[in-house]
Amino acid sequence: PEKKLWGGRFTGKVDPLMERFNESLPFDKRMWREDLQGSQAYARALAKAGVLTEDEAQSIVQGLKEVGKEWESDSFKIKAGDEDIHTANERRLTEIIGSVGGKLHTGRSRNDQVATDTRLWLKNELKGIQQHMADLLKAAIARAEAEVGVVMPGFTHLQPAQTVRWSHWLLSHAAAWQRDMQRLADLLPRVSMLPLGSGALAGNSFGVDRRSIAQDLGFDGVCPNSMDAVSDRDFVLETLFFSALHLTHLSRWAEDLIIYSSGQFKFVQCSDAYATGSSLMPQKKNPDALELIRGKAGRLQGNLAGLMAVMKSAPTTYNKDFQEAWELMFDSVDTLSACVRIATGILSTIKINPERMRSGLSADMLATDLAEYLVRKGVPFRETHHLSGAAVKLAEDRGCTMFDLTHADLAQIHPMFEEDVVEVWDYDRSAEQRDTEGGSSRRSVLQQAEKLKDFLSEQ
Ligand code: ARG
Repeated sequence: PEKKLWGGRFTGKVDPLMERFNESLPFDKRMWREDLQGSQAYARALAKAGVLTEDEAQSIVQGLKEVGKEWESDSFKIKAGDEDIHTANERRLTEIIGSVGGKLHTGRSRNDQVATDTRLWLKNELKGIQQHMADLLKAAIARAEAEVGVVMPGFTHLQPAQTVRWSHWLLSHAAAWQRDMQRLADLLPRVSMLPLGSGALAGNSFGVDRRSIAQDLGFDGVCPNSMDAVSDRDFVLETLFFSALHLTHLSRWAEDLIIYSSGQFKFVQCSDAYATGSSLMPQKKNPDALELIRGKAGRLQGNLAGLMAVMKSAPTTYNKDFQEAWELMFDSVDTLSACVRIATGILSTIKINPERMRSGLSADMLATDLAEYLVRKGVPFRETHHLSGAAVKLAEDRGCTMFDLTHADLAQIHPMFEEDVVEVWDYDRSAEQRDTEGGSSRRSVLQQAEKLKDFLSEQ
């Protein structure tokens, strides 16, 4: 019969259902590498503190490497009683090296161990995501620069508003993604704090040098309070928030493209690599990848709300409720990582139709420009807004576009409308007029791209 790691004071048997209810190995085994790394560093620290002899530490480190080989080659045999990755690894270590393996856990608890493993795991994953986000940003910048000549309708309330550049739209999303990258860079140092050496809650009585463990494992610092160190899951919450927010941004980007790729718009067409067909309707090409991004954003918001709810009433230090964090963490990180890479693929391959974008522009989208024309002749804007509105209405009443209004028609609305008013009827000029920093002129847009490139080169 298997012996539980913590079984000393127990005489009764655990309900088999409870056994499965309690175990986290099915999902936390993916942190086997981090668990072994943490244990190796801890064994070295115990030797430095004089708790283990050099030989004992050597034997433990060597044994942990053997365990790693088994995981690596998929030959690690999970046994009944392997409750989580920590107990499984320690059980196997002791089988391989004998009872000296039992010295490894001296002064350590699974409470500081699990927090160490997950921080180690998360740190690496987040660095991967950082790279994927940089790739996405690069793809957006490259397109924005290459296609800066393309103009399209800009919308507010999804109603046609003003002429903008396609590149301006692209970089509007890139601007949000850049902030997300800043958020990630900001939270990483808080993930990168070492809990090990906190014990179950009260600290470590064997004098292990936490700073050198931190260095050994590549952490930026040590958690400042042992009770907090085993209590804190806010590094997961921050990650879940960051993931949910970045995916919310990607979802809005996806939503725009879903609209732009619809039959009524046809501004863009997804490449075959990121679309699917219908089992019934042969003509269909559906933007499934974009829809999945949009859908998964909802799930990641749920993960955040879920863990917030788990945490809010937990008393200080460790509670088993915290085990609920890991599946949410794995799911959010995996989902985000996939979405960012898929988004980069979509963004780099989507075909645009500049003619359709241009034909989506309509004369009334120059009504603001018409008002500003009069402003430049000295008429107060509040009046020009009305006067331009009158031109919109006149065209509407006549069933024509504003382009069809003659100079005489406009002069009747206001004498300041002169011959040169025809210059207003030019979409490219309209975009070019917005030449202040952040605007839609070619210069402004290219400047935005330049700044993003500077940002990336500083990463
Ligand atoms: N599997 C546990 C978790 O993920 C490890 C920590 C267990 N600690 C304890 N005191 N039972 O939270």
